[in-house]
Parts: sequence; structure tokens; C-alpha cells
Amino acid sequence: MPSHKPRGGSTPKPAKKCGCWFTTLSVLVLAFALLTPIYLYLDARLEQFYIFSPPQLHDLSLRAIGAHGNDTRAVVSYIVGELSEKLPGGYVNLDEEWIFNNAGGAMGAMYIIHASITEYLIIFGTAIGTEGHTGRHTADDYFHILAGTQLAYTPGSYEPEVYPQGSVHHLRRGTVKQYKMDEACFALEYARGWIPPMLGFGYADTFTSTLDFPTLWRTTWVTGREMISNLLRGKL
Ligand SMILES: *[C@@H]1O[C@H](CO)[C@@H](O)[C@H](O)[C@H]1NC(C)=O
Repeated sequence: MPSHKPRGGSTPKPAKKCGCWFTTLSVLVLAFALLTPIYLYLDARLEQFYIFSPPQLHDLSLRAIGAHGNDTRAVVSYIVGELSEKLPGGYVNLDEEWIFNNAGGAMGAMYIIHASITEYLIIFGTAIGTEGHTGRHTADDYFHILAGTQLAYTPGSYEPEVYPQGSVHHLRRGTVKQYKMDEACFALEYARGWIPPMLGFGYADTFTSTLDFPTLWRTTWVTGREMISNLLRGKL
């Protein structure tokens, strides 16, 4: 079949290159100029997007430990049960989908109770202990110890910070520590701030160390499902 396409040589070429890099740069500058005020506006109002609060979660953790002591499985059910009663409508994931997590050299497992753009709430821990770097995050992190003890270290100090069962380790946005759980330790971890930038820290060890892609996929699936379903119900 004969081709009716014009031959390559017959198409007129543009006189000169359009300076596309300049266009791209303009778009980037414009995007930056538009997004910065939106970011600053939202960042100053993050408080109004939160559905959990540190005093409420600390109180709940203490009551759960008071009711079930070292039966950590029951402590977790108590916490999740009460949260889902107080926050109906799917904000709380009742399905205990435990997933390994390697980050900052530490290894443990997590159960994602809630994940949205500005908050996450998980049970994080390990039955055999671990140690690593906390990561430098764009959110405040409240680690409510449900079982065991967590140690933390900041350069310049000669003594460990000790967080026993029932205490809260608050890692401020932007700060870092070394942390360790000598043996079994589980915590209700609550982060509030900007959550998506934290995911890089949660993923990096997969690429540099574990190459455990099924876990990476499961983490992405559960986190994405929770974040998107929360967005759809208007929860940033
Ligand atoms: C849990 O076990 C530890 C270690 O045996 C003990 O010190 C602690 O008091 C127990 N906590 C509760 C709430 O029973």
C-alpha cells in the first residue's frame, strides 16, 4: 500500500529552537511562586486538620495499659476499639495489617491505624529489640510506650533518655536522635505535620539494604489506600 505521508524532508523545520529550558524554568518559578503561599497558609493552619491529639492519645494509652497490663495485644485492641468508636466513618483502620518496616537502620513492624496528609497513627514495635536513627522529619512525633522501654540519645549528652511503659517520647519536628529498644517494645506512634515527605525515610532502607519489594508494595498499598480514602472524605 502506498504511503501518503509527507516525506521527512518536505516538513518545514522551525526556524530555531524555542528556548524550551526557559519555558520550563518559568513554569517552575511560577509553580513555586503559587505553591509557596499555599504551603505557608496551610502550614500555619495545620492544627485545624488534626483529628487526634497527644493528650487524648496519652490518656488512652494509660487507660489501655491500666486495663490490660502486659497483654499488649489486648492493649492495642482497647486503643483501636475506643478510637473507632469516637471517630466513626472509616478514619480508623480496624484491620491489623502488620507490615515490616526498616528505616534508619532499625527494624520493626507496624500496624497502620490511620494515615492522611497531616497525621499518621501506627502501632510500631518489635518483639526482639532494635536500634537506629530516628530520621529527621517534617512532623512532630509522639511515641507512646505501650510495652517495654525505649532509650534515646542526643549528641552532647552522656546519659540516655529512658522512656518506660506509659511514658511519651516526643521527637520534635526537624530534630534527630539515636534510639534503641533493648528487647520487646511496642508503641502507639502518632505523627502530626506533613506526612508525605516522611515516606522517603520509610522507604530508603528497602533500596539500600533489604530489597524487600513485597513489603515495599504492601506499605505503599496500605498507606496510599488510607491517605486517599481520607482525602475523599475531606480529611487532609
Ligand atoms: C510489665 O512487665 C514489666 C516487666 O516484667 C513490669 O515491670 C511492668 O510493671 C509490667 N506492667 C504492667 C502494667 O503490668
